Amino acid sequence: MTTLAFDVYGTLIDTQGVSVTLEKFLGEKASAFSKAWREKQLEYSFRRGLMQNYENFSVCTRHALDYTCALFNTPLGPAEKNLLLETYQSLPAFEDVKEGLAQAKQAGFRLFAFSNGSFDAVDQLLTKAGIREAFIDVVSVDEIRSFKPNPGAYCHFLRRAGAVGSDAWLISSNPFDVIGALSAGLHAAWVQRSSQALFDPWGIEPTVTVPSLLHLPQEILKHQECADGLHDGP
Ligand code: 2OP
Repeated sequence: MTTLAFDVYGTLIDTQGVSVTLEKFLGEKASAFSKAWREKQLEYSFRRGLMQNYENFSVCTRHALDYTCALFNTPLGPAEKNLLLETYQSLPAFEDVKEGLAQAKQAGFRLFAFSNGSFDAVDQLLTKAGIREAFIDVVSVDEIRSFKPNPGAYCHFLRRAGAVGSDAWLISSNPFDVIGALSAGLHAAWVQRSSQALFDPWGIEPTVTVPSLLHLPQEILKHQECADGLHDGP
């Protein structure tokens, strides 16, 4: 049975959904602020993972918000910051996600959510987005007190999902996550949600690249048929 590990923020869940709340406070700076906040949130997770100075992903999110407020010289008060952090706990799924997950399930794949976010935060986020029931379980890196792309995070996923790397796929819009999973011995699908999205020039390429989850099952099955020598290629 093929097991799929779905990244959450930016893959299943649209983090730009925070911009709507930000626009109330920042007007036209909202989109740039939201992008800077997301980049700093990830940077803090990378640094904490490398330093082995773990804090829950929500701490990285809160510290990144404080930094970004200083960077944009926008003194948001505690109430505004709390409202923004609460918004992060209930964001919308991308439009293709519900149907894409249903198709993946129909194709016979085992579906898991796999995230830097804590179990409770992700469980609640997916429930509010109406997609929690598609997944067998939620696997959080919080359980090993580190972050993606630590190879231990992907090994932890395999243990928790009862899967082996050759039968497992990481599904993510985040190139760092795709490269991390490939380096840990899983297959990986890059969900290139924007034609402007760039993949890092490391010479480590996604197993497959899809523009949305609606193309995922067919691309995985095609790859597996090629690997089994059943498909005569494109
Ligand atoms: C995740 O959901 C941060 O997008 C990354 O783990």
